Amino acid sequence: MCGIVAYVGPRDAVPILTEGLARLEYRGYDSAGIAVVGRSGDLRVRKSRMRVAELAADLPARFKGGPGIGHTRWATHGEPSDVNAHPHVSGSVALVHNGIIENADELRAKLEADGVVFASETDSEVLAHLIGRSAATELEDAVRQALSQVVGTYGIAVVDTRHPGLLVAARNGSPVVLGIGQKEMFAASDVAALVRYTRQVVHLDDGELATVRADGFRTSTLDARTTRKEPSVIEADDAAYDAEGYAHFMRKEIHEQPAAVERALRGRLDGRFHTAHLGGLALDPREAREIRRVKVLGCGSAYYAGQVGAQLIEELARIPADAEPASEFRYRNPVVEADTLYVAVSQSGETYDTLAAVQELRRKGGRVLGVVNAVGSAIARECDGGVYLHAGPEIAVASTKAYTSTSVVFALLALHLGRIHDLSPADGRRIAEGLRALPGQITEILDQEDRIAGLAREFADYRSMLFIGRVRGWPVAREGAQKLKEVSYVHAEAYPASELKHGPLALIGPELPALAIIPDDELLDKNLSTLGEIRARHGRVLTLGHRALGDDAIVIPKNERELDPILLPIALQLFAYHAAVALGHDVDKPRNLAKSVTVE
Ligand code: F6R
Repeated sequence: MCGIVAYVGPRDAVPILTEGLARLEYRGYDSAGIAVVGRSGDLRVRKSRMRVAELAADLPARFKGGPGIGHTRWATHGEPSDVNAHPHVSGSVALVHNGIIENADELRAKLEADGVVFASETDSEVLAHLIGRSAATELEDAVRQALSQVVGTYGIAVVDTRHPGLLVAARNGSPVVLGIGQKEMFAASDVAALVRYTRQVVHLDDGELATVRADGFRTSTLDARTTRKEPSVIEADDAAYDAEGYAHFMRKEIHEQPAAVERALRGRLDGRFHTAHLGGLALDPREAREIRRVKVLGCGSAYYAGQVGAQLIEELARIPADAEPASEFRYRNPVVEADTLYVAVSQSGETYDTLAAVQELRRKGGRVLGVVNAVGSAIARECDGGVYLHAGPEIAVASTKAYTSTSVVFALLALHLGRIHDLSPADGRRIAEGLRALPGQITEILDQEDRIAGLAREFADYRSMLFIGRVRGWPVAREGAQKLKEVSYVHAEAYPASELKHGPLALIGPELPALAIIPDDELLDKNLSTLGEIRARHGRVLTLGHRALGDDAIVIPKNERELDPILLPIALQLFAYHAAVALGHDVDKPRNLAKSVTVE
């Protein structure tokens, strides 16, 4: 799996494919390749462990043609190598594949018994042979027959020299989006590869297949029923996919947060009734009143932002709310309640576990809202309604602006539900004013970057760090520890401050520093006594809050206390980023991690 790009049209496909692949590099990969149908009807393939730019530079001048497909691979089946790189070829057919074919071993054995000689160790090559050996006269039918034999997930693009005017793409669990140009068409696993050429896109659904020609496309299900698709328009422009002078996308995205939060708020605050309007909720006030519980689902940082959201909803709307990892929820045969509002959170909108949780909920009749960044993504389409973040594309693997925008959208949702329930107009106004102040206050935190970077450099020398927070500070501690682990590889553990005495206090000593989240709220005294307990054991503490509580302190501006969990993590993002830079790591592409986890 990793990135797919494909082109059919009058132009030479090669530069379009290599530029598209370069746009997908941010997802990480270990090898890359392209295949085009040559002008004389031959199949031209180049693939290797090279970087995309090297592959492009290495192509002979006569390597031209179209339609074509390209791929960046991140090894799952078979080591990273030239032969395991995609495209995979079978006769006149070349294929690129994202996902995992679960019954590949069985299919491979059958094909080998029929005399097929495999060139690679990949599960994807099985699919290439199933298509290449099909007796069907149309490529679409050959692909359909092959897909009916596989169990697993796929996003694929296929070309066949016998059908030089078209390509076929299909999706099941791994994204594929078509790009509509002027008498030319594109396909890719991510709109990042398309935005330079077109803003008009069509997202394929799971179990859907597309035959794509220069002048249009036709979509159908695996059992050959035609489907109708409405094109949507990509919000972001090409610059959003460019680091624009920043050393890393992560730093760029941290600095984009004042603007991202402004976009999340734009047009959504109602000054007359001191509430929030969220257009896509599909929930009228009467239905909103009948909600007895809110359950938020997401993975990783999306789950932590969901915990912030659940706390905000419980606090402002007084509806019992909690968050749970979507990956756990979907496996535990959850009880689905009719008067519970389920909220699925995802930046990419493609995280497999979150999507599977949504599908399970819908199957059982649950009502699910999406809080999603990627417009038109699988999770957004699968939900009953939802709210987009409008954070713009997030390229760095570590989530920053999407995390913050998710918390802001939850504050809007909590305000909306709160004002339908018992939140007073005065409190509604107070929260709305607090929200309006966020972009400026985020800028104030970003202005402290040099000082936070200095602290990060010092603390990066420790092997481990404890992050503690209480109630609103608890998801902040979890997100702070997550960011530090992900990009700096410094071990970090988050604990509720209230739990310290029940175990982890045993760890405290000069060798384990703590980062304590201590906002000036109603729990300040409790947090100060925890701070005393740590210091009494000679533990070094870096505090984060609204006042300096020692030499090592990060002080952020004060807003309404309910909104503290939106501002506090910004400082922790800068802390993690600069720790990672100090340790010389590949900040945007941490080892072993992918930007969107479209596999189980
Ligand atoms: C952390 C991070 C991951 C994602 C998680 C969910 O910085 O990026 O933990 O938050 O994989 O991804 P989405 O939000 O795309 O569903």
